[in-house]
Amino acid sequence: MCGIVGYIGNKNSVPILIEGLKRLEYRGYDSAGLGIIADNKCTIVKRKGKVSELELSLKEHPISAPLGIAHTRWATHGEPNQINAHPHTNSSGKLFLVHNGIIENYNVLKTELQRNGYEFYSETDTEVLVKLIDSFLQKKLELSEAVRYALNEVKGTYGIAVGYSDEPDKIVVAKKGSPLVLGVGDGENFIASDVNALIAHTSRVVYLEDGEIAVVYKDRFEAKTIEDEQIKKEIHEVTVALEEISKGEFPHFMLKEIMEQPHSVKNSFRGRLLFEEGSSKLGGLQGYEERIARSKRILICACGTSWHAGLVGEYMLEQYTGIPTEVEYASEFRYRNPIITTDDTCIFISQSGETADTLAAMKEAKRRGALVLGVCNVVGSSIARESEAGVYIHAGPEIGVASTKAFTSQLIVLALITILIARRRHLSLIDGQTIIRELDLIPGKIAEILEKNEEIKTIAQDFINAKNFLYLGRGYNFPVALEGALKLKEISYIHAEGYPAAEMKHGPIALIDENMPSVFITPMDSVYDKVISNIEEVKARKGKIIAIASKHDDKIDNLVDYSIRVPETIRMLMPILTAIPLQLLAYHIAVGKGLNVDQPRNLAKSVTVE
Ligand code: G6P
Repeated sequence: MCGIVGYIGNKNSVPILIEGLKRLEYRGYDSAGLGIIADNKCTIVKRKGKVSELELSLKEHPISAPLGIAHTRWATHGEPNQINAHPHTNSSGKLFLVHNGIIENYNVLKTELQRNGYEFYSETDTEVLVKLIDSFLQKKLELSEAVRYALNEVKGTYGIAVGYSDEPDKIVVAKKGSPLVLGVGDGENFIASDVNALIAHTSRVVYLEDGEIAVVYKDRFEAKTIEDEQIKKEIHEVTVALEEISKGEFPHFMLKEIMEQPHSVKNSFRGRLLFEEGSSKLGGLQGYEERIARSKRILICACGTSWHAGLVGEYMLEQYTGIPTEVEYASEFRYRNPIITTDDTCIFISQSGETADTLAAMKEAKRRGALVLGVCNVVGSSIARESEAGVYIHAGPEIGVASTKAFTSQLIVLALITILIARRRHLSLIDGQTIIRELDLIPGKIAEILEKNEEIKTIAQDFINAKNFLYLGRGYNFPVALEGALKLKEISYIHAEGYPAAEMKHGPIALIDENMPSVFITPMDSVYDKVISNIEEVKARKGKIIAIASKHDDKIDNLVDYSIRVPETIRMLMPILTAIPLQLLAYHIAVGKGLNVDQPRNLAKSVTVE
C-alpha cells in the first residue's frame, strides 16, 4: 500500500529518502512527499504523481537535512492530490507525520478537535492524527508521550513516523496493523515500511510489533508499548541482496520475475525434497505434522493471486490427503461467523505477509483454537510472525504489482505440504517418490516454456485491441483460468473472466462471437476430451481460441487459432506450468498497449488496509 521511509544521522537525508521511496513505489504511487528538519526548521515538499515528480522538484529547489521522513501514497481518504499527500502538519508547520493505514474513528476525533479550535486543510484521516498529537503537545508533553497519548485514542491501523522541530534529534515511529521496520546503522538509523527500502544501507533490522512505539535517534533507539512499558527489541539480520530488488537488464520487474521462475521455484523446494522417503522436509512445520495429518478439515484463506494458489492447493490436498479442504476469501471469512474448531488446520497464504484481510482472518482462526499456518514470501512479515508454524516460499522479493513468481512458488510449497501430510496418511512410497521426482523436473520445464516468450509476444499482438477475454479450464486448471484472467485485467485493463470450462454453457457462452477471444487451458489429462467439446462449442460460434496445450497434443491445432505448448507433468503440478504462458500473454498484451505493467492503475502490491 503506501510506503514510509525515514533517516536520521549525519548525512543529507534527501537522496536517501528519494532512493528509498523509489524502492517502495510499487506499494502505492499516486503522490509522494517528504518532511525534513534542518537547523531546527521543518520543510515539507509534496507532489501529486510518481516519486519522479517529487525528485524533479527537489532538483529544481535542492534542500538538505540530517533528519527526514518521506511517503509514497495510495489514496484511501481523499483524492490523490498535493494537499492530501503526506506528510501532514500541524498549523505551525513544526510537527509533521506520515501514515500508512486507516484511522477508523477519524470523524469523531475530527469533530472533537474542531470543537477545540482546530482547522483542517485536507480530506485525510492522517491530518486528524497529526492534529491530535499536536493537542497533546499543547499540554506540554514530550513528542513521544504526545504520540502515545494520541494513539490511545485512535481506532484503526497505522504505521507512522513523526518529526517535530522542537525536538530535532529524533523520529518517533509506531505500528499497529501496518508494517514498520527500523534499520540500524553506524551513527545513523533508518525507518521504513518494508525492508526493501533499507537494504542498500544496512542489513540489521528491528521489526516493531503492533502497539509499539520507538523513539529513533541517530545513534540509538528506545522502544515502549502504547501502554508505556519499556521493551527491549531484538536486532535481526536480513539477507536480501540489492540485485534482487533491481530490474537488471529487464524492461520491467514483471518480466524479470516471470523469467526468474526456473530459479525461484527451485529455491522453493531446495533442501526440502526427500527422494528416498518420497516425502518432503519442511522445517517450519516440524513438530506439527501429526496434528495437521489428524485435522478433520483444512481451511485455506487468502486474497487475490494467493487465493488462486489456495484453490489449486484444495485440489492437491483433497486428492492426496483425503482431508476435506475449503478455500475462503480472507475478507469474507473475517466478517461472517466461521465455524472453526480445534480439529481444523487453517493455512493463510500471502506473498507480502501483510495483507490486512488475511492477517485479520488469521487472528480470528487463532482465537478460535485452530492450528494456524502461514505460507508467506516476505521473511519476518506480520503473517509469518503471527502464525504458529509455517513455510516460507523463498521466491525472493517480488516487486511487480501483478504477482507471478510468488504464485508458482506458492504452488510448490502447497505441493510440499500436501506430500508431507499425504505420506503420513495413505499415500504410497512409490506415489510419493513420483511426485518428488516430478517436482525436481519442474524448473527445467519452466525454462522450456520461457523459451516461447517471442512466440507468445507475437500472439499477444493480435489481441491488444480486445475488449473482453474468457479464460476456461477444468479441474486443477480451473484456478489457473482465474489467475490468467486476473493477470490480464490487472495490467492490461481488458475485462477478463475465468470460468470452469464446463460451466461455460450455463451463461458465458452467450457472450461468444468473433470479438470475444477465449483462452482454454487444456493439457492432456483426464478431462481433456471434455474440454475439447467445450472448444468445439466456442469454435461453432466463431470465437477466437488460444489453447495452452500439451507438447504432444497433435489434435489441438485443427481446433484452435493459436496453441502455446507446455511440457507435461503430473496433474497436481500442471498449474505451475500452465500459468506461465498466461503471465507472458498478459504481459505482452499490456506492453503492446503501452501500459505501465509494473505499476498498474489503482492497484497496490500489498493491501494493508481493508
Ligand atoms: C494485492 C496484489 C495482488 C495479491 C493480493 C494478495 O491485491 O495486487 O497481486 O495477490 O494483494 O496479496 P498477498 O501479499 O497477501 O499475497
